[in-house]
Amino acid sequence: MDPFTLQLPKSRLPEVGTNIFSIMTALAQKYGAINLAQGFPDFPPDEDLIGYAMEALQGNGNQYAPMSGYPDLKHQIALLTETLYGYKPDPETDITITSGATEAITDAILALTSPGDEVILLEPCYDSYIPAIRLAGAIPIPVALNTDDYSVNWEAVQQAITAKTRFIIINSPHNPTGAAWTIKDIHKLRELVKHTHILILSDEVYEHICFLPEGHQSILKYPDLAERAIVVSSFGKTFHVTGWKVGYCIAPPNLTMEFRKVHQFVTFSTAHPLQQALAKKLQHQSNIQSLSGDFCHKRDFFLDQMKNSKFRPLPCNGTYFQLMSFADIPQFAEFPDTQVANILTEEFGVATIPVSVFYNSPIDNKVLRFCFAKKEETLERAAQRLCKI
Ligand SMILES: Cc1ncc(COP(=O)(O)O)c(C=O)c1O
Repeated sequence: MDPFTLQLPKSRLPEVGTNIFSIMTALAQKYGAINLAQGFPDFPPDEDLIGYAMEALQGNGNQYAPMSGYPDLKHQIALLTETLYGYKPDPETDITITSGATEAITDAILALTSPGDEVILLEPCYDSYIPAIRLAGAIPIPVALNTDDYSVNWEAVQQAITAKTRFIIINSPHNPTGAAWTIKDIHKLRELVKHTHILILSDEVYEHICFLPEGHQSILKYPDLAERAIVVSSFGKTFHVTGWKVGYCIAPPNLTMEFRKVHQFVTFSTAHPLQQALAKKLQHQSNIQSLSGDFCHKRDFFLDQMKNSKFRPLPCNGTYFQLMSFADIPQFAEFPDTQVANILTEEFGVATIPVSVFYNSPIDNKVLRFCFAKKEETLERAAQRLCKI
């Protein structure tokens, strides 16, 4: 017998387990619950988009795409960005297509932070930020959003800034809370980063799902911020194709150059036929202008169906997530949100996400996240179950 035992290397991410979306989705399947947990639509994408993808698969789209992305798609993104935000990125030097926004976020952090750098993030937040920061050897500095309305606590952000701050990660409209930045937030950020070397990583994957009358505040609208920003978006959210995992990054040439050094060795390039299909969709007829209205309607439909429930809705100004408080429901009020999410799935047949899991050190405000990117019949059935509580 060979006495040698292979020792595995120390985990780079010892605190990471299976993510909550997979756990809740599996639980929903086990109990046959309606899945309002994971953020994906239960309705199909537009037929023309599927047609374009099939054309690309039958045509010449089956070999590697160029490293930085399919040229027509980058061109369409540049036109769209100019129309919406008055900022025209150069497709050659400023736009990179990635395998989802998640890849873009990780690439940006790996490319532009060094070990020991500090990265400020606003919690609760999307779950990929902290592992990416840790993999880069950088230090996550979480700053909690205000708990009443999940607005930014600017004083706390200011206090978190040090000489080592490399990035501030922002996300508006915001997952999981549905909060959206106003112009006041933009001004605060401008003041804070002026005369510093701090970069901004702006996660704008819900840019086209914003319900504020003044619309989405993209960092790209503000040249003084855009010159230090990596802006990330995702076609998964915009065209109801989360499974395609096609996203992109817009950044000035000096930042893009470093970004692409990582991108080209992480994936090299992103699914070519899907890029071709998305380029055609943007060129012909996209649903982007009507997206906010469509989802606002779904939000209002869901809230109307829930009006006789004991859950208390919190304001939702964007994304397709609605937070609901259970603090006033006596049978749940004493339980942690993770347990309430389990009870709802197992006993009442509706899966949700407990918001405490979006914090580095969990803060339990007794709120759950409900995804309303669902058919009306799905939302109606879920609300009927929840109203029985
Ligand atoms: C805030 C936020 N950022 C990034 C992503 C990742 O997007 P993608 O699926 O394109 O990787 C998501 C997906 O849920 C998200 O909610």
